[in-house]
Amino acid sequence: MFPMWRITYVGAALQQGHWRAAVRGLASWIAKVGAPAVVVGVVMTVVWTVVSGSAARGLVIAFWVVLVVGVVLVAGGLWMWRVSGLVDKDIRARYDVLREVESARLLLRPPAPQDAVALAAAIDAEMLAGNGWTERNARVMVKAVRSGHPTPGLLVFEAWSDGALVGGATVHPSGSDASSRTLGWWIGPRHRRAGYASEAVAALVEAIHDAGFATVEIGTTESNLAVQRICDRIGATEKDRRAQPLPNGSVVPGIWYEHRQVTADKP
Ligand SMILES: CC(C)(COP(=O)(O)OP(=O)(O)OC[C@H]1O[C@@H](n2cnc3c(N)ncnc32)[C@H](O)[C@@H]1OP(=O)(O)O)[C@@H](O)C(=O)NCCC(=O)NCCS
Repeated sequence: MFPMWRITYVGAALQQGHWRAAVRGLASWIAKVGAPAVVVGVVMTVVWTVVSGSAARGLVIAFWVVLVVGVVLVAGGLWMWRVSGLVDKDIRARYDVLREVESARLLLRPPAPQDAVALAAAIDAEMLAGNGWTERNARVMVKAVRSGHPTPGLLVFEAWSDGALVGGATVHPSGSDASSRTLGWWIGPRHRRAGYASEAVAALVEAIHDAGFATVEIGTTESNLAVQRICDRIGATEKDRRAQPLPNGSVVPGIWYEHRQVTADKP
């Protein structure tokens, strides 16, 4: 079956108004697939007409209908595969800025399909509330991981000691500011209050800077004291307080922190 994420990516490309390129691309695939199909069709028509005469007329018409539909389906599928591949490449270049990050107790890495069950177990009501997610947001993420579909900017935290999935983080572009990335995270219910978030966030912030981004933005709510504490500890400074609309539809009093890369003074 055609993966859903590819259809979504094609839809996103079309929504951005790339209609002219889309029509050109589709036409070129129809030409590529259609040319050999027409040759096959003409040969079959000639053979059937010579062998069976006018008796083969119905068969010839049915064959051409199947051929045309087949060409459109195959060319359309190939075109969608190509467009979604290009969108995927573009999204990966913008989102997957970190491959693997190591800290004392954790390996922070992109998720694999076999993480899906542990990932689902690391999501509870507190995680949803802390990130302003709906249950559907979480289900979509777990399903994408299970199916091996793209999960742009998502990293999971694996404990070195026993391989347990401790939590996760997202690293996303900060609007149009190419020099900044926005970091969000959570720790699963079984592993909270053990210093994992402090450790993971410090390592992630350093890795994001090492990847060439001057600032890391962290958004939280006024009620999330743990995140505020972590931001203080890593040296992030409060940049803004404003009402924050969340994916679950709520609007909360938000705090935005910024961590700036410390550059060594020139001698
Ligand atoms: C917030 C969260 C990530 C903290 O993870 P954690 O691994 O338990 O945090 P740590 O153990 O590293 O603790 C960091 C600091 O926060 C404090 N803290 C942790 N949980 C707290 C809580 N519920 N209330 C108040 N302070 C808390 C710790 O005492 C620690 O302070 P200290 O440095 O003075 O000792 C975790 O509770 C969680 O995933 N919550 C749900 C999702 C969420 O809110 N994500 C953040 C969205 S921006």
